[in-house]
Amino acid sequence: MENDQPNGKIITLFSTASAVGKTFLAVNMAAGLAASGYKVCLIDLDLQFGDVAYYLHLKPRHNLFDLVTQLQKTAVPSDINLFDYLTPYIHDDLQFFTLLPPDKLEQACNIFTAGINRCLNELQTCFDYLIVDTTSAFSEINLSVMDMSTIIAFIGIVDFIPTIKNMKIGYDTMHSIGYDNQKIHLILNRSDSKTNIELNDVRQLLKDDFYHIIPNNFQQAQSSLRSGIPLLASDKSSDLGKSIRQLINKCTDQRPSPTKNDSSLHGWMKHLFN
Ligand SMILES: Nc1ncnc2c1ncn2[C@@H]1O[C@H](COP(=O)(O)OP(=O)(O)OP(=O)(O)O)[C@@H](O)[C@H]1O
Ligand SMILES: [Mg+2]
Repeated sequence: MENDQPNGKIITLFSTASAVGKTFLAVNMAAGLAASGYKVCLIDLDLQFGDVAYYLHLKPRHNLFDLVTQLQKTAVPSDINLFDYLTPYIHDDLQFFTLLPPDKLEQACNIFTAGINRCLNELQTCFDYLIVDTTSAFSEINLSVMDMSTIIAFIGIVDFIPTIKNMKIGYDTMHSIGYDNQKIHLILNRSDSKTNIELNDVRQLLKDDFYHIIPNNFQQAQSSLRSGIPLLASDKSSDLGKSIRQLINKCTDQRPSPTKNDSSLHGWMKHLFN
């Protein structure tokens, strides 16, 4: 383990509707942060139907269920090599880790909040950033992870009225829990997709502006999905890639980037696997 202090920042991607781009953005934020030299672990908390492995063409040997079970059995967590349970993603010089859900639904149903909190606490001691992909629900697990998070990237799209109604309920609920705008970042994805709804009406309803707006580009998103390579690991010049890069820069504003020497990730990875 790198150090014993849980210093890693947690960025959680959450939404009140499905298929708004949580996983797509989580994968690309992990790739973009790793490309900047940060130590990153992407955690798929869509326990039953997670898509991170699919997006990155990964086959996990061990998973979140195995790690939760092992941590439960162990009095001294530092005895566990966390990296045995993580699946690395490597593309050229870019590298980050993933913690993937089990492929058996009965195992997914037997992962509980306390186990996940323990995993996150342990992982925070090894990584600069934990990027957490979630399901679209105010579940106990999601609420607990949001509590632990430094940033909640609340992703919305503007397509139909019910989607916007649910975005409003979710956004208001998060403020009533006590999260402020330092913590919740309202992000509009697929901004220029076809709709008759005016963005200014949505802003008025939410009583807030968007922290960041990401364009819609079906072709760029699909080709990244097909190749299993995040946009921020390959096509950095695409408008979609650039916009996600800007989002990452905003989210890391208060953090100095690792120095060039610190970002020799090949060396870092070797150290962890030894
Ligand atoms: N900005 C974008 N432009 C074009 N397509 C996008 C964009 N963002 C995401 N997509 C596409 O939208 C689809 C849904 O994205 P994704 O799987 O990330 O959603 P999700 O919120 O994780 O869904 P779920 O709630 O089911 O897990 C994917 O095909 C993805 O490639
Ligand atoms: Mg998803």
